[in-house]
Amino acid sequence: MPTLSHHESSIQIESEAATEIPDLLGDASLNDLKDRLVKTYDDKAKHYDTDRDVNDATRYYFANSYRAIESMMDQTRRDSVQVDMPVGTGKFLLHLRQRGYAHRMIGIDIAAGMLSVCADRSQESGADLILSMGDAYRLPLPDNCVDIFTCLRLTHLLPKSTWPQIVAEMRRVLKPGGQLIIELRNVLRGITCQMLVSAFRLRRETHPHTFVSPSDASRLFANFENVQMQGVGLDGTCTLARLMPPISKGLHLLEANSPVRYLSKTLLVQARKPKSPC
Ligand SMILES: C[S@@+](CC[C@H](N)C(=O)[O-])C[C@H]1O[C@@H](n2cnc3c(N)ncnc32)[C@H](O)[C@@H]1O
Repeated sequence: MPTLSHHESSIQIESEAATEIPDLLGDASLNDLKDRLVKTYDDKAKHYDTDRDVNDATRYYFANSYRAIESMMDQTRRDSVQVDMPVGTGKFLLHLRQRGYAHRMIGIDIAAGMLSVCADRSQESGADLILSMGDAYRLPLPDNCVDIFTCLRLTHLLPKSTWPQIVAEMRRVLKPGGQLIIELRNVLRGITCQMLVSAFRLRRETHPHTFVSPSDASRLFANFENVQMQGVGLDGTCTLARLMPPISKGLHLLEANSPVRYLSKTLLVQARKPKSPC
């Protein structure tokens, strides 16, 4: 298995050709899907951030999502290692650097195009990210080396039946006691969307098979400890916050922590690898 070399002060992309990704399941369709995703994100990479920065609701969502993740994240020391996978164009790690986080940050992604944009951004801002091309199903990292693993906006792209493999990979590379923070689509929001779509005949594409319920999430993280969930992206909160800016923070706390979190767009799950082997 290729290991990640650690260069304190250089941006580094270690190439692992897509053809070298092993056929883990003996399942050609999973490799086809990976190939398609690589192509899609290579094509999108240059415009990815501008295409996403389209309206207040999206910006509000990301601001709240990042605020919630920061509130969950363990305290970092300079030598703490954080992996963000998929790193995409680096938006989240660059946000953390801008906020003064000074620990070691490693970004992994399967698409060279996304990593290349991320490398340019990292260099421009002096963010000193370590980047590596790699596959969620076979992370280019040794066992037990990561303090914090963040995974945002990946699972909805991949078959749910394969999620346990991805979670097992994240668990493998985490140190005992290390923390995983992962974003999953929230099933109740999914059901509500589906009902609205059929009631109003909206042409909105939803992917019900990649939504999860809190009990799905509990099963997925059964061999972790201290599993907790927050919601992000309750419909309508952006509009309310715009109309009444002072209540914005309170609204965020409500959507994150009260039972209404189960109506939010996504669930942020934090889970900890047990300190002693189970
Ligand atoms: C929706 S983007 C999210 C990127 C980033 N996490 C963010 O929030 O901006 C999905 C990313 O997943 C990456 N990806 C897709 N399949 C992957 C896999 N099997 N392993 C690693 N990265 C993958 C894509 O290349 C793309 O950069």
